[in-house]
Amino acid sequence: MVPLVAVTSLRRKLSVSAVLALLLLSGCHTVEEQPPHAEALRTPPEDVPGMRARTMAVTTEHSVVSYRFPLLGGGHPLTVETRTAMAARQTAFLERLSGEGTPELHQDATILAASPEVVGVRLTATTSSGGEETFEARTLWYDDESGQILPWTSLFRDEKAIEQAHLALAEVLEEGYGMPGRQLPGIVGEVAGGDRKAPGNDTENAAASPSADTAPSGDGEPEPLGLSDPERAREAAQRWTGSPLEDLAFSTAGGLAVRMDPSQVPGSGRTDEVLLPVSAADTEDLLSGLGYRAREAALNDGGLDDDLPLGEPGDGLSDQGRTLDCQRLRCVALTFDDGPGEHTDELLDTLEEYDARATFYVLGSLVDDFPALMERMAEEGHEVGNHTWKHGDLAEMSGEEIEEDIGRTNEAVREVTGSDPPTIRPPYGSLDETVRETVDQPLILWDVDTLDWKNRDTGAVSSYALEHTVPGSVVLFHDIHESSVKAVPDVLAGLHRRGYHFVTVTDVFPAQVLEPGGVYTDARLS
Ligand code: NI
Repeated sequence: MVPLVAVTSLRRKLSVSAVLALLLLSGCHTVEEQPPHAEALRTPPEDVPGMRARTMAVTTEHSVVSYRFPLLGGGHPLTVETRTAMAARQTAFLERLSGEGTPELHQDATILAASPEVVGVRLTATTSSGGEETFEARTLWYDDESGQILPWTSLFRDEKAIEQAHLALAEVLEEGYGMPGRQLPGIVGEVAGGDRKAPGNDTENAAASPSADTAPSGDGEPEPLGLSDPERAREAAQRWTGSPLEDLAFSTAGGLAVRMDPSQVPGSGRTDEVLLPVSAADTEDLLSGLGYRAREAALNDGGLDDDLPLGEPGDGLSDQGRTLDCQRLRCVALTFDDGPGEHTDELLDTLEEYDARATFYVLGSLVDDFPALMERMAEEGHEVGNHTWKHGDLAEMSGEEIEEDIGRTNEAVREVTGSDPPTIRPPYGSLDETVRETVDQPLILWDVDTLDWKNRDTGAVSSYALEHTVPGSVVLFHDIHESSVKAVPDVLAGLHRRGYHFVTVTDVFPAQVLEPGGVYTDARLS
């Protein structure tokens, strides 16, 4: 443990940037021994049993973006949270493009701990633009007990423990790297032994109340600071924004490995990252229940000799499960009806270029004519929907006829893709009560009708789609027309530039919204 006489938090008085500046100005004296360096336990998602990863990447003339996120089983909350955070970061990046050069944003995820009880993931983002590079990192922790995704602060017993971790880091910086590290972001501390005083802060130190023992909101009433409560952990993470602990991992030595940028630690002799150790003994006193479970999982590989038993194989609507929370993002579902056809292959190539997922409402009678296309759709993550056997008007059919037609089409699709179409699009958008009562799948209409079957004009189709698409839109095209397929590159380029994410119909709607026999036009955010 760090010997403490008093810890005084001045984070309400010192801005993080001011503290960082102090840190950067720190002088160096000669360090004779090899500075202490931790080895962080970080594992690529693919190396965790039962986990996979998916990479999304798009290269255009104005930018290069990519992100890799972990797949923990269909619709697992950590998968959704990680991907959604990365997708949102990408949108923010694309929005800020100035139009000069070809800036790049690459995001990645590594696993810090994985067991049936807890999974920790580290999200990194590297931006390069005009020869300048920036790096961001943070961690998210899935707690199976509460089912919540929590910030790094939840690994600690309370905020006093977080302050103690900062002091331990300060000590490593001072003793190991010869720099006065006590001005770590968010903390100014005094450590036993006398000579460690934050310069110029004596009065403030003396004047400040012993805030380590009271709630940071400090309304006078001292209250316990437990961070097992998700709300408290999130509030604490807000308050500690800019702390090096935002990028922590467990170390091979059983303590913490806290990453700092080499530019912040002059004399480290490292170029990629400096990993400051907090010893196992110190860590012991600081962690919360979740923190202990996470450390255990990190050190023992979670005891995973079998697949991680997390998540359901699917959410009932799609085999891959939901991976994006479109309620928090700009998403659009592009849909293509009446195929497959001779232009569908070209369309799949275009979609691939933008790592876009789409939904194909196919006719059951055509499925057998294009088995390779059907397989490709499924393999590349597109969704195959039911558009009846031969484009019949469902509202004109009896219950029995509807059942027969939809059932036959479901089966044709299942045979080539391995799963039932999760949704139905009624031809002509025509349906009635009998249809609603008969079908076992949601009925999906659209809010943006490009009228591509009528005007057969590539420019008109793309500009209509670009003008009318809003977040949550379901856009109607027909991939049997060459003019429509030729319009898609401009649609994708324009919407990608505006930060849109191209998802399937079941992904664009909020979880659990789609019900059998329900009729839906779009998932627009009200
Ligand atoms: Ni149709």
